[in-house]
Amino acid sequence: MRYGHFDNKKREYVIDKMDLPTSWTNYLGIRNMAAVVNHTAGGYMFYKTPEYHRITRFRANSVPMDRPGHYVYIRDDESKDYWSISWQPVAKPLDEASYSCRHGMSYTTYNCDYSNINAEQTLVIPKDDSVELWDVKIKNEDNRVRQLSVFSYCEFSFHHIDMDNRNFQMSLYASGSSYDKGIIEHDLFYEEFGYQYFTANMEADGFDCLRDTFIGRYRTEDNPKAVETGRCLGSCERGNNHCGALHKRFVLAPGEEVRIVFMLGEGDREAGRIMREKYSDMGRVDAVYDELRAYWEDKFSKLQIRTPNEGMNTMINTWTLYQAEINVMFSRFASFIEVGGRTGLGYRDTAQDAMAVPHSNPVKCRQRIIELLQGLVSQGYGLHLFQPEWFDSETEHKPFKSPTVIPTPGKDKIVHGIEDACSDDALWLISTIVEYVKETGEHSLIDEMVSYADGGEGTVYEHMMKILDFSAEQVGEGGICKGLRADWNDCLNLGGGESAMVSFLHYWALRNFLELAEYRGDQKITEKYEQMLQKVKEVCDTKLWDEDWYIRGVTQSGRPIGTKMDKEGQIHLESNTWAVLSGASGQERGIRAMNSVYDRLFTPYGIMLNGPAYTTPDDEIGFVTRVYPGLKENAAVFSHPNPWAWAAECMLGRGDRAMEFYDALCPYYQNDMIEIREAEPYSYCQFVVGKDHTAFGRAHHPFMTGTGGWAYFSATRYILGIRPDFDKLVVDPCIPAEWKHFHVIREWRGAVYRIQVENKDGVMKGIREIYFDGRKVDAIPVCEEESQHDIKIVMG
Ligand code: NOJ
Repeated sequence: MRYGHFDNKKREYVIDKMDLPTSWTNYLGIRNMAAVVNHTAGGYMFYKTPEYHRITRFRANSVPMDRPGHYVYIRDDESKDYWSISWQPVAKPLDEASYSCRHGMSYTTYNCDYSNINAEQTLVIPKDDSVELWDVKIKNEDNRVRQLSVFSYCEFSFHHIDMDNRNFQMSLYASGSSYDKGIIEHDLFYEEFGYQYFTANMEADGFDCLRDTFIGRYRTEDNPKAVETGRCLGSCERGNNHCGALHKRFVLAPGEEVRIVFMLGEGDREAGRIMREKYSDMGRVDAVYDELRAYWEDKFSKLQIRTPNEGMNTMINTWTLYQAEINVMFSRFASFIEVGGRTGLGYRDTAQDAMAVPHSNPVKCRQRIIELLQGLVSQGYGLHLFQPEWFDSETEHKPFKSPTVIPTPGKDKIVHGIEDACSDDALWLISTIVEYVKETGEHSLIDEMVSYADGGEGTVYEHMMKILDFSAEQVGEGGICKGLRADWNDCLNLGGGESAMVSFLHYWALRNFLELAEYRGDQKITEKYEQMLQKVKEVCDTKLWDEDWYIRGVTQSGRPIGTKMDKEGQIHLESNTWAVLSGASGQERGIRAMNSVYDRLFTPYGIMLNGPAYTTPDDEIGFVTRVYPGLKENAAVFSHPNPWAWAAECMLGRGDRAMEFYDALCPYYQNDMIEIREAEPYSYCQFVVGKDHTAFGRAHHPFMTGTGGWAYFSATRYILGIRPDFDKLVVDPCIPAEWKHFHVIREWRGAVYRIQVENKDGVMKGIREIYFDGRKVDAIPVCEEESQHDIKIVMG
C-alpha cells in the first residue's frame, strides 16, 4: 500500500493519504534554530540543543501520538464548523476533507481542501534567522462570501527536556507570558536570556497565552474551547503553562485569498518586533524559500547522477545526501524517538557522518573533525559522548543552569577513563580526515595544532598516530583488538574480550593513514605504520577466520563468537564486511565470507546484523542477547552496516550483488508496501525488523542513523566509484553487468567533471580507457577552478 510519491523536480515527498501507520518526519532549520515535524504538523522546535534549549513542547511516545505541534485552525464563523490545516489535530473524516503534506528540503507544507476553502500552511525556518515562519494561505473557493476565523496554536516548553517531563515545582511558577504590541512573549524567569515570542504579520483580533484557557478544561488540541467558541479570552499570567495562540477574523469574497505569516522565535519581544517587521514583507518571506533552495541546490550540485536505477537516482541525488547532512547538523539526537535527552557529539557517529559530506559541506566536516580531535584523550581514545563547547576556548559557553540545584560536573568527570572507552570510536576519524584532505586538498590541516581533551596539544597528524597506537596497544594476548566497553555495536559488550571488527577497522584506518604518510613522503612514519599494518594483517589472517567466514570476537573467557559451532549469533555482518572492505581478507576468503553473509543473513529487506538471533541472555556477549530476537542489534536488518556490504562486494568486483543489496534496503523501493515498512520511504531507518520477529519488514527510527552517510559513501564511492584522491579523481565503478552506461556530474575542487561511463562489454568492474576532454589519459587530473570537463570512462 502506498501513501505518497516522490516529486523529484521539486525534491519533495508528497503524502496524500494521511492516516499513516506512524509519523513521517522532516527537519527544518540549518543553523541554530531547528524543528522536527511530522505529516500532521506535530513536533517540536529547539534552539541549538534539543536537550536544554527547547522552544516548543512535545509529549513523546504518547497517546495520541505526536502531540502537540505547530497548528493552524480555521473556523467557519457562520456554521461554527472548524478544522485544522494539517489533518491532525481536528482530523476531519478523510472522505469529507482532502489533505496533503509535502516534505521538502528544510520546509514542510500542509494543504487542506474542505468546505470550499483551500488552505495551506508551510513551516519553514529561514537560513539565518532564529524564527519559524508559519506561512498560511487561505482561499475562498466558494461562490459566496465566507466569514472565517484563523487561530494559531503551539505550546511553549520549560526549556529543558527534564523540566518538561518531571519536576515542575520551580518551572511552573517561574515562567510567564504577556501580550503587547501584537507579540506574545514567553518569559522563562529563571533564565537570564530565557525568552521566546509568537507574533504575526497582522493585528490579531484576540490572543491567549495560557494553554489551559485556549484548550479549555477536559479538552485536547482536537477541540480547543477558543476555536469552538470562536474567541480567545486574552489570557496571560505569571507562572503556568503557556502557548502561542493568535486569532484573526476574515471575510473572504469568492476567489479571494489571504496570506498570514505567524512567527515563532527565539528572543524577547524586541527580537519579535524586528522579525515581525522583516517578515511582514512578503517579498522577504518568498526570499526565504529561494535562499533555502539555493543552499540545498549548491550541495546537490556537487554530485548528481543519472543511472538505470531510478531509486538510486532519487535517493542519491536528493534524499540520502539530505539525510546525511541532517545527521551532521543534528548529531542524531533530535527525532520523535530520540527526543533530545542526549545532546553533544557521539564520537563514532559524528566521525562517520562527517565522512560522507566533505564535498557538500566541507566547512561542517572540518568543524566536526576539529571538535572530535579536541575530544580525543591524549592516550588515543575518544570521549564517547561529549559537548564540543567544553573544549572550545573561543566560544564563551554558558552552561544551562537548572533552577533546582543540580551540580555542574567538573572537567575530571567529563574526561572519562578507559573503562568507558569504546574500542572503535576514534578509528573512524582517521579516514574522515583523509577523505577531507582528498576532497579539499587542504593538506595544511594535518599540521594544525589541536588540544587534547585531558590537556596538552599536538598536531592533527600526532592525534592520528595516537589513535592508531592506542588500538595497537589495546589488544588481547593473541593480538586481536580488545572490545572494551563496546565496539561499533553498542550491544556487544565484550569488555576484556576481543573484537574482530575492530582489528579490521584498525587495518582500514592504518591503510588510510599510510596513504597520507606516503603522499607526504614521511618515510620513518610510513615504515613504523607499515609494520603495524603487517602485524594486524597477520592477526586477521591467523586468528579471525572460522570455516566459511570471520568470527565476530572472543569473549573475556576466551570463547570465540560468531563461529559455525554457535547455535545463536553464528555469523555477524560487521566483522565479515570489514574484513573485506578493509582489504584484509583478500579475494578468496572475501568471496567465501560474503557468500556466507548472502546465504545466511540476506532478506528481501536487507542484510541482518547477525543470525540466528540470540534467545538466551549471555552477559559475556553483552546486551545484544537481552534484546528480543529480530529487533535492533539482535538479528534485525540493522541498516548502517548494510552499505559496508555494498562496498565489500565492490571490493570483490561483484556489482550485481552490491546492487541486489542496495535495492533491498532502499526505502524508495518500499514506497508501495507501507503496510509492511510503516516508516517513511524517503529516509533510511536505523533498523528493519528481522525475520525472527512477527513484524518482519517494519522499519524504525528514521533519519538519525549512520546509514544515511554510509549509504551515500558506499553508493557513490564504491558502486559508482567516484573517489577523489590526493592529486587525481578516480572513477572506478562496480556496477551490475546489465548497466550499459551511467552519467555523473561531480564538482571537485571547484571544477566540474561531466562523467560518462560506458559499459558496452557488460562487465561489473574494470576500466579499459579514460578520456579527458576527448584525449586518452591514464588519470583524471585536478583542474582549474570553474573549468568544466568531459570525462569518458570505457569499462571492459
Ligand atoms: C546506534 C548508535 O548511535 C551507534 O553509535 C551504534 O554504532 C549503533 N547504534 C549500533 O549499535
